[in-house]
Amino acid sequence: MNILILGGGGREHSLAWAALQNPKCDKLIVAPGNAGIATIAECAEIDICDGLAVAEFCGENAIDLVIIGPEAPLAAGVADDLRGAGLAVFGPSAAAARLESSKAFTKEICAAVGAPTAAHAHFTEAGAAKAHVRAEGAPIVVKADGLAAGKGVILASTVDEACAAIDEMFGGGFGAAGAEVVIEEFMTGEEASFFVLVDGETCLPIGTAQDHKRVGEGDTGPNTGGMGAYSPAPVLTDAVAATALSQIIRPTMAEMVRRGMPYRGVLYAGLMIEDGAPRLVEYNVRFGDPECQVLMMRLGAQALDLIHACAEGRLESAQVNWADDHAMTVVLAARGYPGAHGKGSVIRGLDGLTEDSCHQMFHAGTGRDGADVVATGGRVLNATARGTTLQAARDRAYALADAVDWAEGFCRRDIGWRALG
Ligand code: AMP
Ligand code: GLY
Repeated sequence: MNILILGGGGREHSLAWAALQNPKCDKLIVAPGNAGIATIAECAEIDICDGLAVAEFCGENAIDLVIIGPEAPLAAGVADDLRGAGLAVFGPSAAAARLESSKAFTKEICAAVGAPTAAHAHFTEAGAAKAHVRAEGAPIVVKADGLAAGKGVILASTVDEACAAIDEMFGGGFGAAGAEVVIEEFMTGEEASFFVLVDGETCLPIGTAQDHKRVGEGDTGPNTGGMGAYSPAPVLTDAVAATALSQIIRPTMAEMVRRGMPYRGVLYAGLMIEDGAPRLVEYNVRFGDPECQVLMMRLGAQALDLIHACAEGRLESAQVNWADDHAMTVVLAARGYPGAHGKGSVIRGLDGLTEDSCHQMFHAGTGRDGADVVATGGRVLNATARGTTLQAARDRAYALADAVDWAEGFCRRDIGWRALG
């Protein structure tokens, strides 16, 4: 099987690494890839948000399966164009991708099926939104509707803070994403991520994870794309997972079928869990990054079989061979991230790392400058490891992170603190 993966982050490096372990993978191309991916697969420069260009590339390269990593090509309808060209695709249609790109759409579906989530109201004008906030009081959550690169959510601890966020969103501070605003009840509890493959109506859970969104130790400071993750998430017990499937995920997927927009791909449900009861925080229509890295490390070669079965609508007969293990990934980021940070600094020590089925340094924002590997983004490397306990996975991940010689980078030292106690 010839496979094309779209994307160039740590998520796609881990997907490529897992796919290559499966003997069914004959050829692998990643577009655009990064310096780490280039050491294991062919990388191609194509516009991954241009579905017709991707379809043409697939024809020229005899691609059998396309795995779409990030949300932007999904929201742009690349999966639709590829399916239209007769390709097997892992990733939802643009219509189904609205579960991530439109918070108002997701809320409407939750209301239609009675899925537990935060109470909310939707506004297209600042005055009414602020009046609602004053009536409800704080803490309260203000969200820009649409993709705002993870920055469109303000957890306001006071009414003034919420009103300022509303003014900023309607004032264009978040671009087109802020044209509509959702105001939500602030939910308490512990957050965890649940990953489920869906090929229409069949839902196959493939793992749980928790990430650390804040840049600072103790989960403080500004939000990031994620500074580290571990799997499984202890709070997402089998009982909680069963409740989330029966009350939230299966009804949502059935409603999508009913509306003529069946979901195909991985559904990432962000859940808030309090006293064993899960409520939906949000859906994403892709694997989390860096959550994917810990899932791929645990699933290994079977990940490709599962993804292929999902793309071909064969999930009903697929099954996951769960290992009783744990994985952790620690993100190495450029100093200053998520704010302004340098680019182009040289990363040394990558060649001498011990990498095997339990240790991998996945690359995110890296590129080549001659013979050197250099940082090209904010999140740059993902030191990822597996072990029989979370502590063992943690020790290995940090040993890998510490073996890299990169003075311009940093990582949080407390990934997994909640689970490790
Ligand atoms: P979102 O982009 O919707 O995932 O929001 C980003 C983060 O904000 C989530 O992962 C939660 O940690 C937090 N968050 C979002 N909505 C709520 C809510 N209604 N109550 C509490 N925390 C929330
Ligand atoms: N790590 C969070 C996300 O991928 O959305």
